[in-house]
Amino acid sequence: MCGIVGILGKAAVATQVVDALKRLEYRGYDSAGVATLENGRLTRCRAEGKLRNLELKLSEAPLTGAIGIGHTRWATHGRPNEVNAHPHATAKLAVVHNGIIENFRELKRELEAKGVVFETETDTEVVAQLVTDALQEGRTPLEAVGTTLPRLRGAFALAFLFEGEADQLIGARHGAPLAIGHGDGEMYLGSDALALAPFTDQVTYLEDGDWAVLTRAGVTIRDAGGHPVERPRQTIPTGSFIASKGNHRHFMAKEIYEQPEVVGRTIAHYVDFAAGRACPPDLPFSFRDLRRLSISACGTAYYAGLVAKYWFERLARLPVEIDVASEFRYREAPLDPGELTIVVSQSGETADTLASLRYAKSQGQHVLSIVNVTTSTIARESGALAPTLAGPEIGVASTKAFTCQLAVLLSLAIAAGRQRGVLDEAEERRLVDALVGVPGLMSEALRGEAEIELLAREIAKAKDVLYLGRGTSFPLALEGALKLKEISYIHAEGYAAGELKHGPIALIDDAMPVIVIAPSDAVFEKTVSNMQEVAARGGRILLVTDRRGAAEAAMDTFGTVVMPDCDPVVSPLVYAVAIQLLAYHTAVFMGKDVDQPRNLAKSVTVE
Ligand code: G6P
Repeated sequence: MCGIVGILGKAAVATQVVDALKRLEYRGYDSAGVATLENGRLTRCRAEGKLRNLELKLSEAPLTGAIGIGHTRWATHGRPNEVNAHPHATAKLAVVHNGIIENFRELKRELEAKGVVFETETDTEVVAQLVTDALQEGRTPLEAVGTTLPRLRGAFALAFLFEGEADQLIGARHGAPLAIGHGDGEMYLGSDALALAPFTDQVTYLEDGDWAVLTRAGVTIRDAGGHPVERPRQTIPTGSFIASKGNHRHFMAKEIYEQPEVVGRTIAHYVDFAAGRACPPDLPFSFRDLRRLSISACGTAYYAGLVAKYWFERLARLPVEIDVASEFRYREAPLDPGELTIVVSQSGETADTLASLRYAKSQGQHVLSIVNVTTSTIARESGALAPTLAGPEIGVASTKAFTCQLAVLLSLAIAAGRQRGVLDEAEERRLVDALVGVPGLMSEALRGEAEIELLAREIAKAKDVLYLGRGTSFPLALEGALKLKEISYIHAEGYAAGELKHGPIALIDDAMPVIVIAPSDAVFEKTVSNMQEVAARGGRILLVTDRRGAAEAAMDTFGTVVMPDCDPVVSPLVYAVAIQLLAYHTAVFMGKDVDQPRNLAKSVTVE
């Protein structure tokens, strides 16, 4: 979602600000802007749409200030046009904001009663006007921000630039992430360390409620109570900054192709191959003592959790309750103290997932988070951490993070099965061997790309697509449909194959492809029966299965994608490759913006 950048530099900073914003593009946005100070006066440039529009405007009328803030906006309040684009400014200051100010209407009414006239429909302008109001009462910028922050409700990160203050930026974080970069006589602010990577690897993460005053000489941080606090400075490993497409056309393609490597790396972290054992991270609980496991996540991470429900219940006989985080956080589910909640998140910043974590903690539960960004808020607030080692994921549609999440979850389910006495040593070894074989199987699956690309041309003609699967292939059907709709904008639905007769069968005709995900596992025959029901009604089937499945199904399909033979337990990891490639090539064939689909954000830091 919205990206924030701030730079206190030695020469004109606008180009650097835009470069840093480009590194936040992956978060999703629909307008952008920069503000600098020239001879103490605020100057601003904003544009609707992509950063190239902003660059074009800046090339015609450059901003020359050596201090500046910038923003990519993902619209929440007000249309994504230039007027609503950040930075928002008054005669006294400019501000950029990520998140939502929930009480903005109330604050706006109060300011309007004082005669303030608003230019935009945004919640952000309320912040600009509140701080301006405090400045007009004679407060310093520091005091004005200090009196305004406690009045704001919601989750947000802010960066302020003040008229006449050429050596001061103020940043604040309340629920949305903000990092400070330390340079040599220069200082930076950014929504994440990735944005600051070209300038520095020395980063300080603000804690929730913190606000910071940056000058070229350094930073002073205060907590929510206004008390000066020290936050550690970290050296961010350069490996976490690698964010280029390599030889691929899109980040999404690169990330799909990276899977054998990053999933392999993740598996190596969680299993002892030689001993044939799953090795979970140090956990402050034993799976043996649990009576129930809750899982909460959003989007693709939620589907990873849904696959894991099958694994934990079957391999560890541990009942699992799973819910999307936006529901979990509010439905006041009774959670017993001492039990476990697992939250799954690529970014570690998803607002609803973070709220679920906090709810589970408030109920006295252990919280284990499976996150890709280990410096994220979710990682830092969890009692236990199981990182996915996927590296930075830039494509908005999650691919490699998903399969790495599956790898971690399966290794945990195996460890749980062993601890609970459900699996014996031989079964554990068999499962670990199956997991260790996944990267090789993924490479094999990737070799089917050319064939999938041809099938994608058929899918691209459709207005609606149905995905069917049973068992762990059901969540994969949901994920396949999500991938396709996210990047191609074709309406797609995932269904449990057994539910076909309870509704979707009414939709079957020769215009709607039905993609059936059916490895030859224990429920294969059942899924074949459902396919026959589709075929009998003139439906067009694309079957994703293995060699045996293809031979046994012997059905009239418009395409069969033959996946490598694998142990059914790991099929979600291997079959994920095929559904990702299918969605990717459909979207590319249709000419869509694969890496930055319209309206979507990589990191959803608002509710
Ligand atoms: C957004 C992204 C999805 C992601 C979901 C959850 O919707 O576009 O790709 O699955 O958020 O994000 P998280 O970072 O918590 O995994």
